[in-house]
Amino acid sequence: MDILITGGCGFIGTNLVNHLLAQPDVERVRTLDNYVTGLRRTVPHARVQEIEGDLRSYDDVLRASDGVDAVVHLGALPSVPRSIKDPLSTNAVNIDGTLHVLEAARANGVQHVSVASSSSVYGANPALPKVESLATLPLSPYAVTKLATESYTNAYATSYGLNTIAFRFFNVFGPLQRADHVYAAVIPKFLAALKNNEPLTIFGDGEQSRDFTSIHAVTDAITKSALRTVTSETPVNLAFGTRTSLNGVVALLQELHGSPIKVQYVDPRPGDVKHSQASSALLTSLLPDVVQPDFVHALKEVYDWYMEL
Ligand SMILES: NC(=O)c1ccc[n+]([C@@H]2O[C@H](COP(=O)([O-])OP(=O)(O)OC[C@H]3O[C@@H](n4cnc5c(N)ncnc54)[C@H](O)[C@@H]3O)[C@@H](O)[C@H]2O)c1
Repeated sequence: MDILITGGCGFIGTNLVNHLLAQPDVERVRTLDNYVTGLRRTVPHARVQEIEGDLRSYDDVLRASDGVDAVVHLGALPSVPRSIKDPLSTNAVNIDGTLHVLEAARANGVQHVSVASSSSVYGANPALPKVESLATLPLSPYAVTKLATESYTNAYATSYGLNTIAFRFFNVFGPLQRADHVYAAVIPKFLAALKNNEPLTIFGDGEQSRDFTSIHAVTDAITKSALRTVTSETPVNLAFGTRTSLNGVVALLQELHGSPIKVQYVDPRPGDVKHSQASSALLTSLLPDVVQPDFVHALKEVYDWYMEL
């Protein structure tokens, strides 16, 4: 099988490439990326083809998906604050980009398309756990683009018979996640601060909670769904129903870190949701052998990775 990963040089994409290369049924992996947050491979791999291109160009996407069996669409501008600052760019990359991926997949006869949506689509809906059937109430332009991403994906399944699945990622973390850009996620930012002996910054009181998900579960679920052509008429949460507050993450990091950790609390950020916790029932019914990694173990893995960088 040949697989295209859009955004394949980003955090989740690079981990996914490495995971796919270990699968006997995967022959070649192609990436499409414009390197806005992603990084080029430092060491070329015989089974990996990197294509530089832009999701906003239908021609780029059409060319990149020519001849592949499956597409994993991860490419996006994945940040709530960025979308609030620049909604037009986020809209163009995330919504036009998704439409280009789906239309190109249809034109090229691709057998399976999986796309990255986000728990941010639940937004202002306070219900926990987040069951996929809950009303979606996006709080940011980014969340709107992810709702459009999954809606277009489902529409391509019903309108054109494309085999699709839209995963709602929660807070994915693991090795290779960048801390060195302004829109970095919370765990890499914490780890970079620890490494530099700086205080950790928390927006709000730190009691906001997230369903932190190890990258290994995410790459496993995406890979199995592509190899088995798993489809779903509704979006699927890709998380396991755990919930850890940011203060709780700091407490766990304190156990790993030798010296005392300092935290500075600043004003909450607009667009951020208070609590997030998935229902994993649909994921488990579709992919029963995707197992929930232990959070403390996964946090230690990423802590060690950062400290050795
Ligand atoms: N990491 C998470 O916790 C999380 C949570 C929810 C959803 N997601 C979604 O998962 C996907 C991957 O996220 P990530 O954490 O790996 O982010 P990332 O920023 O590391 O990866 C995104 C990739 O897309 C590429 N890209 C951006 N604009 C592009 C364009 N116009 N053309 C081509 N490539 C472009 C970037 O260069 C980057 O390599 C995104 O769609 C994101 O919205 C991630």
